[in-house]
Amino acid sequence: MSANTLSVLFVCLGNICRSPSAEAVFKKKAADQGVIIEIDSAGTAGYHKGAAPDKRAQAVGEERGYSFKGLKCRKVVEQDFEKFDYVLGMDNENVANLLEICPEELQHKVALFLSFGQSKEQEVPDPYYGGKGGFEYVLDLIEQGADDFVQHLKSTQP
Ligand code: 4NP
Repeated sequence: MSANTLSVLFVCLGNICRSPSAEAVFKKKAADQGVIIEIDSAGTAGYHKGAAPDKRAQAVGEERGYSFKGLKCRKVVEQDFEKFDYVLGMDNENVANLLEICPEELQHKVALFLSFGQSKEQEVPDPYYGGKGGFEYVLDLIEQGADDFVQHLKSTQP
């Protein structure tokens, strides 16, 4: 991580559906809007370590122009809380799990991804056991959340 570049880590449970989708969407939106930021994603569980994002998440995301190239699942580690300026969980359980392992003095970095704007939902629901419609809905929420977070960064950065 470069010393002065802002950074964000998106976190879900498996790091194969929601958080890599958030990473792919936010990479494009930040680049399109000239926001320079380091972006990564991870999971609170390590079930799928090393795996590429879920094929359903990739299919839905690629249809909307996002790239998942090179993304690989990894588990959150304690050093992530030092490294990243923002550690954003997709749902309340992700945030609770993050706070369990985050040192107290770094807990201000942990937040819900959808807490930066006007999203109708507070959480991005887990689509893993559902159908394609669930993945589309997750991507709708992520696109709105990414727009809101870009605006937040633009309004808080000098
Ligand atoms: P994600 O979805 O947290 O959005 O990546 C899941 C992926 C895998 C599992 C659960 C949720 N799983 O139980 O394997």
